[in-house]
Amino acid sequence: MKSKASAPGKVILFGEHFVVYGVKAILCAINKRVTVSASKIHENTISIKSNIGDLNMPPNKPITEIKSPLKPFYFLANKMIEKHNQNTGMEILVQSEIPLGVGLGSSSACCVAGAAAISRLFSETSKKEILELAIEAERTIFQNTSGADCTVCTFGGIMEYDKKNGFSKINSEPNFHLVIANSEIEHSTEAIVANVKQFKEKNEEKFSNLCKEESELVNNVLVLLKNNDLSGLGKNMLKNQEYLETIGISNEKLRSMIELAQESSFGAKITGAGGGGCIIALTDESNLENVVEQFKKKNYECFSAKIDFKGLDTF
Ligand code: PMV
Repeated sequence: MKSKASAPGKVILFGEHFVVYGVKAILCAINKRVTVSASKIHENTISIKSNIGDLNMPPNKPITEIKSPLKPFYFLANKMIEKHNQNTGMEILVQSEIPLGVGLGSSSACCVAGAAAISRLFSETSKKEILELAIEAERTIFQNTSGADCTVCTFGGIMEYDKKNGFSKINSEPNFHLVIANSEIEHSTEAIVANVKQFKEKNEEKFSNLCKEESELVNNVLVLLKNNDLSGLGKNMLKNQEYLETIGISNEKLRSMIELAQESSFGAKITGAGGGGCIIALTDESNLENVVEQFKKKNYECFSAKIDFKGLDTF
């Protein structure tokens, strides 16, 4: 028996970093996916194949002994084999369209698609249970994950998230396109979050004002999303970018990418932790090719994406 599942990546549209301090953020799933297939095998091994390498290990190893980035898959397979008390090995195949480690939710999409494909080999599992499993798996690599990424990858669409109230789905279906361009500067989310904490501690009042402004901006954005007001959304992206500049998570390369995007899109900003990673530019169908061309001409790795409304899909 073979079980297959796929889950989308994500971008943070508004509110990164400020969300750590209680402000609402807006995330959306994108139509770039990770697909995972899993099957039980007779050999006493958990074998994982992916485009970033392979992992072959017998079941029942302590998770701390696994050093591979494929650890969440091992964790999920082991957990399910143990839970169902079965004497089986497993073969897992991972295929991804999402660039790794640039804040596009590739690890969350892996955990969600992995949790679905692996658990469904043993029993029917609800989306809610899959999400819980996925968050547990993601914690094996990012201990402090808020779970927001796995949530949006599971349910798809746009959602608002804040620390106190958790997530809720936004029912707007705006028809924008995003152009996502990669700075190819590696970043560590943890290190950048720590830098922002330092900035906050040195500038308490300024930071508190920025949180208020970001909060207002997000509330305005919720109305603009409902009205499909792309021009308004683009302006707010640029405004959000200014706040991100102020807290020190931008750099010259990211700024020049945002400037380039401004020539042909409604607006652009960093998405995710910053310091490197990706920027997003907001555009509509008619102008999409122009924006992509502009980045390609300057040799940036870039691609277009739309909101994914489906979320987790199982086959
Ligand atoms: O780099 P990403 O896309 O995983 O985003 C991190 C988002 C932060 O707000 C910077 C941190 C967080 O935990 O919310």
